[in-house]
Amino acid sequence: MDAATKKWNGEMKEAARSLAVRSDKKNPAKVYLGLPGSGCKCVREALKQGTIDADTFVIAVERDPETADLIETQLNGLVKDYHLHRDTITTLNIDTVLQDRKVDFAFLDFCGSLYNELAQWLVDQRHIFTDDAQVAFTFSICPRASSFMNKAKAVFKWFFTSDMCEFKMLAKSVDKQLRRKARFIYGSDNGYRFATVASAYAILSLGYHVEITNCDEYCDTSPMIMVKFRISDNEVTINRHLYMIRYLRTCDLWINFDDPKERNKKRIQKQTVKITSDMAPWQQLGCPEDMTSGNKSATVRRALQGIRPPWMKPAVWAWHPMNPNGIRRKKSA
Ligand SMILES: C[S@@+](CC[C@H](N)C(=O)[O-])C[C@H]1O[C@@H](n2cnc3c(N)ncnc32)[C@H](O)[C@@H]1O
Repeated sequence: MDAATKKWNGEMKEAARSLAVRSDKKNPAKVYLGLPGSGCKCVREALKQGTIDADTFVIAVERDPETADLIETQLNGLVKDYHLHRDTITTLNIDTVLQDRKVDFAFLDFCGSLYNELAQWLVDQRHIFTDDAQVAFTFSICPRASSFMNKAKAVFKWFFTSDMCEFKMLAKSVDKQLRRKARFIYGSDNGYRFATVASAYAILSLGYHVEITNCDEYCDTSPMIMVKFRISDNEVTINRHLYMIRYLRTCDLWINFDDPKERNKKRIQKQTVKITSDMAPWQQLGCPEDMTSGNKSATVRRALQGIRPPWMKPAVWAWHPMNPNGIRRKKSA
């Protein structure tokens, strides 16, 4: 449905789909992950464009049983091998499906909000992509019931109204990429849209270098955004990781770095150990690199007076070595 005319605009979705499944690689993808829906239109379009071919292993997900039946019938005639997961995507154990393979193209056409459970599932799946995967999403950009997105939006609202925001770097980077790549039709001040794209970017950025390659708005039953990312194995800095983790934690997402499948685990752990052994007080408190030195000093001063940095969880602060009232100090006293 077009927000202005109240009419469903199939052409706009077609344009966004066509962009979403366009590949910049010479060869068809080996593994495609998607939500094909009742008409399998994205799979057909991907085949037409040569993004996949009949030999591509398709992992399709559909929670609606009748739609899943339709998908199964069509996939039988479209590709040689596929796996259909007939439930919500967050119950998909993709490692058992993939075995030794990795996903090199994904179009997760959710057309819904990024909610906590889904965001956590995406964080947990970050190891499934190849080092050069292309990953597109569609999300609703209307406020819907999602505590994750409400928090994410609040974080960025804070950034846009205050110059001292801790999430400046993430916001700046996403803003810069969107200015280059995005076609917006619903006004530029949609904080929910920005927070949605920034969250998807932050999730994929855990373990990879990520860039936004396309972004397009269209109208379904409500305004939607299609955002597409390219992953690469360029060096990922520890600061960038810490930054993304802190952002996602603020939005209530716990990132488990002990996940044995985490592809960069060893490198990150090594860097973490190196950094923790000779960290400045502001680094120990997790102040972002680009915070002004005045703000860093103020944070350190307040911490030494027992005031917890706003981004730090109370449980972490309770054990923090710089907390004068913390458990470690009390124990050693
Ligand atoms: C927008 S439609 C897909 C359209 C298709 N990709 C196209 O290009 O026309 C989204 C489909 O995914 C399903 N879906 C959405 N979110 C899902 C989730 N979290 N888990 C499983 N299925 C989901 C919906 O039931 C719907 O059939």
